[in-house]
Formats: sequence, structure tokens, C-alpha cells
Amino acid sequence: MMTEFDVQPQPGADKTNMSLPELELVELQAMLDWLSTYGADSQGGVTRLLYDNAWSEAQHALAKQMTEKGLVPAFDQAGNLYGTLSSKESVSSAQDGVATYPIVTGSHIDSVVHGGKYDGAYGIVAGILALEYLHKHFGRPKRTLQVVSLCEEEGSRFPFAYWGSRSITGVTTLEEVQYLLDQQGVSFSEAISGAGFGPDRGLKPAAQTYGAFIELHIEQGQVLERNSCSIGIVSDIVGQRRYSITVKGEANHAGTTPMSWRKDALAGAADMIVAVRRIALQTGEPFVATVGRITAEPGVGNVVAAKATFSLDIRHVRQEILDRCWQEMLQTFSRIAGEEHLRLEWDEHLSVTPTPMNEKIRQDIQEICEREQISYLHMPSGAGHDSQIFQSACPTAMIFVPSQQGISHNPREFTTEADLMNGFRVLVRLLYKYGYED
Ligand code: GLV
Ligand code: MN
Ligand code: MN
Repeated sequence: MMTEFDVQPQPGADKTNMSLPELELVELQAMLDWLSTYGADSQGGVTRLLYDNAWSEAQHALAKQMTEKGLVPAFDQAGNLYGTLSSKESVSSAQDGVATYPIVTGSHIDSVVHGGKYDGAYGIVAGILALEYLHKHFGRPKRTLQVVSLCEEEGSRFPFAYWGSRSITGVTTLEEVQYLLDQQGVSFSEAISGAGFGPDRGLKPAAQTYGAFIELHIEQGQVLERNSCSIGIVSDIVGQRRYSITVKGEANHAGTTPMSWRKDALAGAADMIVAVRRIALQTGEPFVATVGRITAEPGVGNVVAAKATFSLDIRHVRQEILDRCWQEMLQTFSRIAGEEHLRLEWDEHLSVTPTPMNEKIRQDIQEICEREQISYLHMPSGAGHDSQIFQSACPTAMIFVPSQQGISHNPREFTTEADLMNGFRVLVRLLYKYGYED
């Protein structure tokens, strides 16, 4: 029976005994370094935001790499990039049922602002190299294999996340997001057409059905490292909500307006943010709440702020805890706004339910780890992932590798080459099983 955080003790160091041809030392690290040059910033970070220049250059460079590695690249209208290794026979004939649909692996190409080089990128690079490896040693699969470089997951540019997987699965259409604005006031539809995508420019998203989606990703936390464990088999992905909270007051003179007469939007927002932290601490782990951004208007040192807007991100693996904490936060915000003579507006721009991963694929990953003598544990994911969206469309699973010191969304994000290789090995095995054996 699989239990969360159930570490399987493994004597000695991890080793492989693959009956697949010995995995040559794959240049995973070199390819990750190469990909990180697209959007590299001056402080060693990576900033690749949906449809910006670095994003475009990276996606087109990956398409070229796919061709060089024997895959057939294609873009869809959202800018998701697919690299296909077709089966011997024609696939995707609906009469043959789900068994004929492609097995897909991959992750997202976008990053947070000033992020690291592994988040998302690892799953894409490993997927391309895995398909190249399988093709080289075993020829064409019985069942089509595909790697996808998803256009967006982070929600870093527009107040909307998981656009890549949501567009593929048909959960969201371009019509629903076209008017969203980024921080510079550029609309989603301007950005997508500027990057060369949009209606009639590429394959139709959701045009195909998947047999399974498998995402290889860095853990972004410290569970694996603390347990000296090589592979995390994700049991569930946290539910999360993201809000934009706007507090409105009145601009006034900093010298002549007595403290008690003010309608100070920024001071009210500050009280609300302190309350967010208090509620989160009282709720206890694994509940987390983050205010990562705040802006004030007019944003002048000697003027009482007329308006303050802050972000709020809350997460938990249970829906009822999310509901309860949000209600408590909202009541507290309303009380503070009332006391300070402010107006409160809020907008929920993301709501993703906690999502369990597919049991059967988890079991297959566990068996591969046991056969390969790679230590593993079953664990929830505190980060959001595209797999959360895919799970509603097809059987989906995630494989984690350790993140050094659990640091992520930071240029210091790091995973050792040995850990990258372990994840790669498990992915190759799994794709071999689904593509060539089953
Ligand atoms: C995505 O990386 C998230 O969990 O914020
Ligand atoms: Mn991320
Ligand atoms: Mn990610």
C-alpha cells in the first residue's frame, strides 16, 4: 500500500541495472544550460514570459532541436510546441480506443520573473532526449510518443496561469482570455499575435486526445533532499487560488491631513497583509498564503495613497480548508476596510482544485524505481503544475527529482547531474513501457 512520505529504504548508493541498452551519459545539463541562455538576465536568472522575445526564441530553438533529434515539430494556435515520434502504424484512430492515443511527456517553457533554469525546462529537455534515446535504440514505438513544450504555466505575465495545458485540454479558449492585460497594459490578444500565434496560425488546440501525460519536474521543496531520496512520485497536487485585492481610499496631503482623517489605502492594505500571515500561521501546515506583489497609487512619498493593489496566493491539499481560510481573510479585509473608511474590491483569477495523480501510473513508476534500485517516496506537490489540468483529460502522473536546499523560483535553483539522470532514467523506462511494451 502506498503511503505519503513512505520512504523506501535502499541500501547503498543508487545504481541502475537497466535491461534497456545502457544509458549513455546524456547531456541533460548541457542542454539545460543552453536553454537557459534564452531569457538569461544579468544576475544569473532566467526571465521568459509568455510570448515575449526570449520565449519566442526558445520555442523556435527547441523546434529546431526536435528536428535534429528525429522528432517532427509542430505548433498549435496557443504556441504549445509538440515533438512527435510516430508509431510504426498510423495512430489516433478513435475506433481503436484510448490505447491508440499518444503518450505525452513535457512541461512548460515559461518562467517566473528572475527564475531558475530547471523549473519546466527540465521536463522538456528530458522529454526530447528520452524520445531521441528510445528512437535510436528501439526504432519507432508501437504507440506514438510525444514531447510537449507548453507555452505557459506560471501566470507571470498575465493574471492567468496554466494557459498551455488549459488551451490543449479545451478548459479555456482564447476568447476567454483575449482581453487580459499584462503589467504594461498589453492585451493577451496583442501578445499572442505579436508572437505569431492565434486563430488560424497553427494546429487547433484540443485537436487531439492523449493516452497519458507524464511530467518530469524538479521538486522545488526539501522533502526528497531531507529524506535522502532520489525520486518523488507525486500523489496529489495542491489546490490553489490567486486573487488580486484592491483597496481604495483618497489621495491627500502628507503634511496637512491628520492621521485620524485619512483614507489611507496603503496602510489598510498593510493591515490586511499582516492578517493574511496571521491566519496562515493559525491554520498551520500545509496551508500557505503569499502576498508577493503590492503597488500603490499615486505612488508618491508625500501623498497619502489613494489606491493599493496586492496579490494573494493561497494553497492547501484540501478544498474545504481553502474555502474556510479565504472566507476568514475576506471577512477580515472587509472589517479593516470599514474601520479605515476604505473600499474593497477583489478578483479571483485562479482557482484550481486539489488533484490526485493517476494510481496506475504511480504504481508503474514505483515498480520502475524498485527494479532500477532508485530510492523513491510518494509525496504531495505544494507547487502547481500543468499535470493538474491534464488529469481532467487523461491519466496523468508526475515524477520529481530533488532540488538543492529546496530553492526554486530563484536563480539559485539547482539539481545535481546524478539526480537529473535518475529522473531521466525513470522517464525513459516509463515511456518504453507505454510506447513499446504495453
Ligand atoms: C507554479 O510554479 C506555482 O506553483 O506557483
Ligand atoms: Mn514554477
Ligand atoms: Mn514548473
